[in-house]
Amino acid sequence: MSEPRVLLIIGGGIAAYKAPELVRQLKAQGIASRCLLTAAAEQFVSPLSLASVSGDKVYENLFDLTDEAEMGHIQLSRDADLIVVAPATADMIGKMAQGLANDLASTTLLATDKPVMIAPAMNVRMWEHPATQRNLDTLRADGVTLIGPDEGDMACGEFGLGRMSDPVEIAAAAKQLIAKAPRADLKPAVAPDTPLTGRKILVTAGPTHEPIDPVRYIANRSSGKQGYAVAEALAALGADVHLISGPTALNDPRGVTTTRVETARDMLAACQQALPVDAAIMAAAVADWRPEQAQDSKIKKTEAGLQDIKLTENPDILASLAQADSNRPALVVGFAAETHTVEAHANDKLARKNCDWIVANDVSLNSSVEGGVMGGDENQIHLISKSGTQSWDKMPKTEVAAKLAHQVAGFFTDHKESQ
Ligand code: CTP
Repeated sequence: MSEPRVLLIIGGGIAAYKAPELVRQLKAQGIASRCLLTAAAEQFVSPLSLASVSGDKVYENLFDLTDEAEMGHIQLSRDADLIVVAPATADMIGKMAQGLANDLASTTLLATDKPVMIAPAMNVRMWEHPATQRNLDTLRADGVTLIGPDEGDMACGEFGLGRMSDPVEIAAAAKQLIAKAPRADLKPAVAPDTPLTGRKILVTAGPTHEPIDPVRYIANRSSGKQGYAVAEALAALGADVHLISGPTALNDPRGVTTTRVETARDMLAACQQALPVDAAIMAAAVADWRPEQAQDSKIKKTEAGLQDIKLTENPDILASLAQADSNRPALVVGFAAETHTVEAHANDKLARKNCDWIVANDVSLNSSVEGGVMGGDENQIHLISKSGTQSWDKMPKTEVAAKLAHQVAGFFTDHKESQ
C-alpha cells in the first residue's frame, strides 16, 4: 500500500514559514506532502526549501503552462487523499466561501471532491470580523474541517485567537481525516479501529442563547466540552459525525462537521435538516424557556419590561427526534443534568422523552468551584437504559466520551443483524 498523500496549499501569511515543519510532521505520521504555494506565500517561504523537505516538485502558478500541461489542477486534487490549507488566510477563506477560482490554489480547491481541512491564521480582529465568521460558517456547511486557530501572541504584536495551530496537531488531525476518507489509490477499506465507519451520528452540544433584546439573552453554564468530546470520540471510531452546537468558546472538534446555532429553535431546525441519522446523542443544555417576544432595540433600564419578561416554552428537540416515526434514529441518547435524586429523575426522563439511553450527571457542584461539572474538565456519570444503570467513576470528559463512543459502537455491533 502506498503512503497516503496530502496536497498542502500554503496561503500568504506569516505562518507560511511553518510549512516545512508541517511537511516534516506529516512525514512523521507516514503521510507524503505535495506543496502548492500561492503567489503571496512565496514571500514567506521558499519553494526550494519545500521541494527539498517534501522531496517533490512545488506547484506555484495557474498560468504556468508546463504545470498545466503535465499535471493540472484536476490531477493535483485527484492524486491527494486530503487537501490541507495552512495557513488559511482570511482572503483564502473568503475565496473558498465564494467559490472563486483565479489562481492555482483556488482553482484546485474549487475543482476538488476530496476532504479539505483548513488551518486559519490571521490577526485576531480579522478572525473575529463578521465577514470571516460568515465565510467560515459557509465552509463548515460545505463540509470543510477547521483546525484552530489557537490563542496566543501574534506577529502583529496583538494577543488573541488567530495563531495557526501547531504543525504537530495539524498533522495528527490530517491522519485522522485520511483514516476516515476513501484512499485516492485504494478501494475503501474498513480499518479495525473504526467500528462506526458508515454510521451517521448527530450530536448536539453547548448551551442555547435565547435573546431578550439585541444585547441580552437567557443562557446557562454549559461549556459544550462534554458534547464536543463525544463528537470527536465518535469520529475517531470512524463515524460520520454532524455536531450542532450552541454558542461556545471551543474550536470545532477534529474530523467532525460542525454547524453553529444560537437558539433552541435554530438547533431544532438544524437537527431536523441533519436527519436521517443512525444515532443522535443530545448533549446540549437547551434552554427550556425563551422570552416570548425578543425586542428589536435595547430595553433601557428605566423602561418597564426587564422586570417582567414573559417566557414561553421552547420545543423539546430530544423528544421530537425520539418520537416513534420512520425518521427515528436507531439509538437516541439524552443527557440529564440534575442536582438531586439524579438516577430517579434520569429514569423518568428516559421514559418521558422516549430515549434509549440517558447519560445522567450530578451538576450540583457550582461551576465556579474548582471541580464543578459545568465548565470543568471532569464528569461522573450514570448510563441509564431500560435494562439497568451503569455508574462510572469520575474521569476526564474526554475519557467519558471515549467510553460512551465504544458503547455506541457496541450497540451497532449487537444490532447489526436486525438492521
Ligand atoms: N433537551 C432538548 N430540548 C429541550 C430541552 C432539553 O433536546 N428543549 C434535551 C437535552 O439536550 C438533554 C435532555 O433533553 O439531552 C435533558 O434536558 P433537561 O433540560 O434536563 O430536561 P427537561 O425535560 O427539561 O427536565 P428538567 O425538568 O430537569 O429541566
